[in-house]
Order: sequence, then C-alpha cells, then structure tokens
Amino acid sequence: MYPRTRGRRLRETEAIRSLVRETRLSPSELVYPIFVIEGEGEKREIPSMPGNYHFSADMLDDEIGELKGLGINAVLLFGVPGIKDAFGSEAYRDAGVVQRAVKSIKAQHPDMYVITDVCMCQYTDHGHCGMLTETGRVENDRTLEYLSRIALSHAKAGADMVAPSDMMDGRVGYIRDHLDENGYKHVGIMSYAVKYASAFYGPFRDAAGSAPSFGDRKTYQMDPANSDEALREARADIREGADIIIVKPALAYLDIVRRVKDSANIPVAAYNVSGEYAMLRNAVDSGILGEDAIMESLISIKRAGADIIITYFAKEIARKLRRE
Ligand code: PBG
Repeated sequence: MYPRTRGRRLRETEAIRSLVRETRLSPSELVYPIFVIEGEGEKREIPSMPGNYHFSADMLDDEIGELKGLGINAVLLFGVPGIKDAFGSEAYRDAGVVQRAVKSIKAQHPDMYVITDVCMCQYTDHGHCGMLTETGRVENDRTLEYLSRIALSHAKAGADMVAPSDMMDGRVGYIRDHLDENGYKHVGIMSYAVKYASAFYGPFRDAAGSAPSFGDRKTYQMDPANSDEALREARADIREGADIIIVKPALAYLDIVRRVKDSANIPVAAYNVSGEYAMLRNAVDSGILGEDAIMESLISIKRAGADIIITYFAKEIARKLRRE
C-alpha cells in the first residue's frame, strides 16, 4: 500500500499549511519605487497608477516614515525633471530633482536605504536612454560617460546604491570604476541586467514623461522571445561588478527569473513593473479579480527565485502581511 492522503493532511488547517509553506514574503524584501518632481508642497496621484504619487522633494518625509512603519526599508527613486535637453543635463546636476530628494530623505531618515535609477530617458528631449548620433542612433560608448556622471552625482548626494536602467553595454564596469576613483567604493550597483523591450512600461512612461519621441528601445532592450540572452546579460553585469541584478518585467518573465537565479551567484531582484501594477490594480478595483490576486502574483515572483521584489504594491502588501 502507498499513502494516498499525505497532501490532504498537510492542508487541513492554516496552522499546518503555514508550517509547511515553502515561500514567504516579508516587507523587508520589497523595494518601493518613488517618483520625484520639481516644485514644493506637491503630492499628486499618478492617473495611470492609482495609489502612487508624484512627490516634490520636500514632501517625502511622511511617505518615508510610513514605509519604515510598514517594515519597508528600501526605495528606488525616479526623477521627473522640469527641463529636458539633448544631453540630459538635469540628470547629473548637483541640485537636480533626484539629488535633492536623496539629500532630503537621508537628512530625515538616514536608515532608509536609497537606490536611485540611473538613466537618461526622463532627461533627454528625445526620450532615449542615451546620447544620439546625428542620424538618431543611440551611441553606446559616449553614453557611458554621462551615465557615470549621473551615478556619481547621486552618490555625492548620499545614495546608497545606483541602479542603471539604460541597457548600454559596459556601463556597470564604467560606473564602478568612476565611483571607485572618486571615493565611493561603498556605493553599490543594482543593475537592470535583464531588461526586456516590453509594452508593460506604458504607465511608467506616462508617469515619468519618458516615452521616446521617435522609434523604440529595441536596439538596447531585450527581445521578449529570448532567454539564453538573459544569462549572457546577467553574466556580463556580474563580471563588471554588479552587486544585485534585476530581471524586468517580472510576471511575464518568471521563467527568466528562475533561470537567472539558478545561474547567478548574487542576489536577484525582479521588477514588477508599472503595466503589471496597472493591470492587476484595475482588475481588483473594478471587482473583476479578488484582491488575493495581488499576493498570489507577488508570491509567484518570489517562488520563481527573486530575492527582492521592486513593486508599486509594496505598501499594500506590507499592510496585508502585517494584518496576517
Ligand atoms: C528607464 C526606466 C523604465 C522603467 C524603469 N526605468 C522605462 C523604460 O525603459 O522605458 C520602467 C518601470 C516600470 O514600468 O515600472 N529606462
């Protein structure tokens, strides 16, 4: 005879289910993305991402306090500048929108871990992630100089970690050298190593005003049909000195999260992006799906192998975990 009912016995009550549960989520594994804008006294809801806001730097104190109260210890900052130009020069200005936000968070909450997105697309007038040639091609190597300048200005403002999301080749090593040479060896790099050219970034591009004015990002972001390429990208960034690598998006790429996790020997973060947020948010808010769909989705990302989840649901999930 063989035991026919083992599965059932381990599902009998919540006590035994939680005893044998293989995957758990904790607020301390979540990173909350925050959009900072110019101005003062501003806190405005982002229409395409209900429940998320644009903040001016002076309005971050309460938000960070709330996050800490929920057990969320890390934020990822995105800047929405007032001015754009061909060089994205607002991105590396010492008094730029992100730099001011980092300083104000660190002054009030030195224990909040501050990660800054390093990219040019919000800052360039053409909306591409790098410098362009006269014919409109993104110039990889010239862009590296700008990215490392942006990263250094974030480090100077007090960022704990920089997160290059531009997908230029060689930028992790370039940024690492630049930070080291300038006395910022202690500042980490969380690289968007595996970033797909995805339609799920739509609401973010609205929120950040970063949609390209012509063309698309397919020459520097990855083809959704590829999986081996993800391992090559991850390996390159690890070799160049990334401390953490990101797979992005998350939900349509759980197989990639698993493959990258199995092959990488450093922490892997999955970015549950704006379109994934909007999709679930709308389905739950309109009653098409029950709200448990949110926890189920995040647990699936963890189960796939993510050590860290970057998510716009961070506060909501942390509240739910607290209630349980
Ligand atoms: C900037 C950047 C993007 C996202 C993070 N950093 C957009 C893009 O590549 O167009 C997307 C995040 C999200 O959708 O939540 N390069």
